[in-house]
Amino acid sequence: ATPVSDAFVFFGATGDLAYKKIFPALQAMIRSGELDMPLIGVSRGGWSLERLRQRARASLEANGGVDEDAFARLCEQLRYIDGDYSDPETFRGLKQALGSASRPIHYLAIPPSMFGTVVQGLAASGCNANARVIVEKPFGRDLASARELNRELHAVFPESSVFRIDHYLGKEAVRNLLYFRFANTFLEPVWNRTYVDSVQITMAEDFGVQGRGAFYEEVGTIRDVVQNHLLQVMSLLAMDAPAGRDPESLRAEKLRLFRATRSLRPEDVVRGQFRGYRDETGVAADSQVETFVALRLYIDTWRWAGVPFYIRAGKKLPITSTQVMVDLKPPPLEIFDSISLAESNYFRFRLSPEVVISTGARVKKAGEGMEGRQVELVARSSRDEGKSPYEQLLGDAIEGDTSLFTRDDSVEEAWRIVEPVLPDSHGNHNTPLTIYEPGSWGPESADELVTGGRHWQDPQPEQSDPC
Ligand code: BG6
Repeated sequence: ATPVSDAFVFFGATGDLAYKKIFPALQAMIRSGELDMPLIGVSRGGWSLERLRQRARASLEANGGVDEDAFARLCEQLRYIDGDYSDPETFRGLKQALGSASRPIHYLAIPPSMFGTVVQGLAASGCNANARVIVEKPFGRDLASARELNRELHAVFPESSVFRIDHYLGKEAVRNLLYFRFANTFLEPVWNRTYVDSVQITMAEDFGVQGRGAFYEEVGTIRDVVQNHLLQVMSLLAMDAPAGRDPESLRAEKLRLFRATRSLRPEDVVRGQFRGYRDETGVAADSQVETFVALRLYIDTWRWAGVPFYIRAGKKLPITSTQVMVDLKPPPLEIFDSISLAESNYFRFRLSPEVVISTGARVKKAGEGMEGRQVELVARSSRDEGKSPYEQLLGDAIEGDTSLFTRDDSVEEAWRIVEPVLPDSHGNHNTPLTIYEPGSWGPESADELVTGGRHWQDPQPEQSDPC
């Protein structure tokens, strides 16, 4: 069995991610008894342990509440190392704080530009021995930078010890997508080009960039959520069944799927920017960065040849929801009424904020004629069920389970897919940008991507509360 880590080190301990996600996940893991080990925060913030404890409390108060018992244990287990990441003294301090721990896990909750410096520091001080490393997104900004990050990490850690976070993979609803696909016999016979007409993945957010204008200027929607979150969702939806239960079998199938996915061409992409984005702090007055994207992908496998996969994501849209639609073709012959593509069967996976899996089916309308209407067969679960993505992912990394982490080769393939439509090094794009009104579904030109009688299917408010 894979050994469990015996010390949890987190770089960037005074930062935003620690505040929003890491402390709440640590408290939850302590509460469930999964985290009885030293917790060592490292930062160049000039802080003290006491200040970090106060920060932890403030973080918990703001993010789900303090459990006094668990918090007391968290404070007891917490250590703090202050220092510059390029200073060997910082790592000597860390080595000392590790004490008798022999299998630490180092979480780099810091900008990727610092990964190289930190892993070198870990190696020079011997803190890398038998260690694992968790890295945060963004993992690169194009194929070349992702390769460079992989090279920097691999100089010290073998791939089997590297855990790249994509928090989408830690979501209960996304894990359920994978489960549902391979735990149901009825799905497999229709899950292919013979029966599936097209697939749509929509990630809509009704808010803007929330003060992160300067960050967004460097990123844009394709890098922010498509290259990572939405391509990951697509891979779980479209991959073949893994050959075994082990993490590597799963990752091998995902890689195969990405390899078969065609690189995007400019004509497959529509980019938009919400009116008002250019007035945000940190955003250029003539910014060409997209806050909306719609795109069309093709997967060249026997299963999916010719089936379009449409992906759409954007800020300031009418609703906040992530939803997948798998649309089946209409029946082959008209026996009773005629059934258009829009009325034919589908599978709907609502990934957030509610968790819903449903099937669109047709039943006869009451009365004399043989006419039908559409109904939805629905399975819901509460949005609060299960662990938070960070609790799930950090717990898995500590146990050495790589299933929900992205591997070097697939990350590079995902960059290869989007690379042709990323801006060049001067920030020039090869696809036009259209301004859209806040509260709309983005530029109308996005409709031109979905041809052949198809239409975008906008996520709607759920009919009733999850039960
Ligand atoms: C992040 C992006 O990775 O994912 C954000 O940087 C986006 O722009 C967020 O809002 C969405 O994640 P979630 O879990 O809130 O749906």
